[in-house]
Amino acid sequence: MQNSHLQEAINRCGSSFYFYDLDQFEAHLKSIKATLHPDIKVWYACKANPLSEVLKILKNEGFGIDVASLGELQQARGVGFEEKDLIATGPAKSRTYLGALLQAQVGCIIIESENQLKDLNELCGKLAIKQDVLLRVQLDWEGEAKSVLGGSAITPFGLGMDDWKQIDVKSFKNINIQGLHCFQWGNILDVSELRTLWAHTMKSCRELAMKLGIELKILDLGGGLGLSYSDNRSMDFKKVHAALLELKGQYELNQIWLELGRFSIGNFGSYLTKIVDLKTVRGKNLIVTEGGINHMARPALVGESFPCEAFMNSSESKKRFTVHGPLCTALDNLGEFDLPENLAVGDWLMFKKTGAYGFSESMPYFLCHNLVGEAIVYQNELMIPRVPETNLEWMV
Ligand SMILES: Cc1ncc(COP(=O)(O)O)c(C=O)c1O
Repeated sequence: MQNSHLQEAINRCGSSFYFYDLDQFEAHLKSIKATLHPDIKVWYACKANPLSEVLKILKNEGFGIDVASLGELQQARGVGFEEKDLIATGPAKSRTYLGALLQAQVGCIIIESENQLKDLNELCGKLAIKQDVLLRVQLDWEGEAKSVLGGSAITPFGLGMDDWKQIDVKSFKNINIQGLHCFQWGNILDVSELRTLWAHTMKSCRELAMKLGIELKILDLGGGLGLSYSDNRSMDFKKVHAALLELKGQYELNQIWLELGRFSIGNFGSYLTKIVDLKTVRGKNLIVTEGGINHMARPALVGESFPCEAFMNSSESKKRFTVHGPLCTALDNLGEFDLPENLAVGDWLMFKKTGAYGFSESMPYFLCHNLVGEAIVYQNELMIPRVPETNLEWMV
């Protein structure tokens, strides 16, 4: 990524925006693809970043996409993903939405409740079709560990092992059960931790498939490959892949699927916003920025900051600053950083690793500010698919 592109994007956007380096993203996808064994399939979790330019690159590189809403389905279809390259996860599947998934001929639907199973079976009957599905399982884990995906807590994502055992899943004649889906732990940075989680998942899912009398042709392990927001540690996909292959052999599994969001696109986005005020309050150095959790809510949601640096200011002389966004809540705290002490009003800050769960995980309307823009560089060319909208454009 070149500063000249960023500077041009600043000039053209004028107010806060996300910036994605899609050349680097494409190279990353190519290296994942080159590593994959034919029995391991990687889908892209659209929720991480649904920008059409991002999706087009995934499609061109031959990845399929996991959608979790009608909006994501429409976006994926709009970009031209073929039916077989679509899967649908998510706990909220109304009959209308299930109907839309069938109409789009989505390759595989992940079933997360008994109602979803019944409704889908009935809808398929009316259309005289059979639909491939995976059943989503939520396992018990020892301890209280938390995760954005729920961890050991009880969540709406799928059903427990015992819940599935109460249902005669083979009696649904219009449903082809291809296997199971299980994903409860997000943003894991350590291959050995992933390996432990996956081993328990594989063992439990094999056992459940046997109890249900279904063939485990596919086991979908969801996402969970992490990015470090506090240092430069990074996951080596080759090591993750090697661990997965070894476990696949150990548990005699057929196909393994992953749905990657954060690890796919997270590294290739930055959020840029400008400084509106600087002050020292009761001994603390504060920066107030034009955009905050209205554009990038994750720091408030999970209590973890994205890394931050000053744009085009390489001064070695640093000071500790707390950075606040513009909202009238102390929750709008983007973190504490060592930044150049000569920063001034009008300078820009750049938050790195915001390609995933940045734009798509924001709360844009609080306090009636501008909406955030989105800029990309692809094939070394700058484009601005979303110019920041002013409040006057969206307020009614
Ligand atoms: C069903 C499902 N699959 C995949 C993902 C992507 O997870 P990650 O970003 O950890 O790769 C999510 C994230 O919430 C999810 O809910």
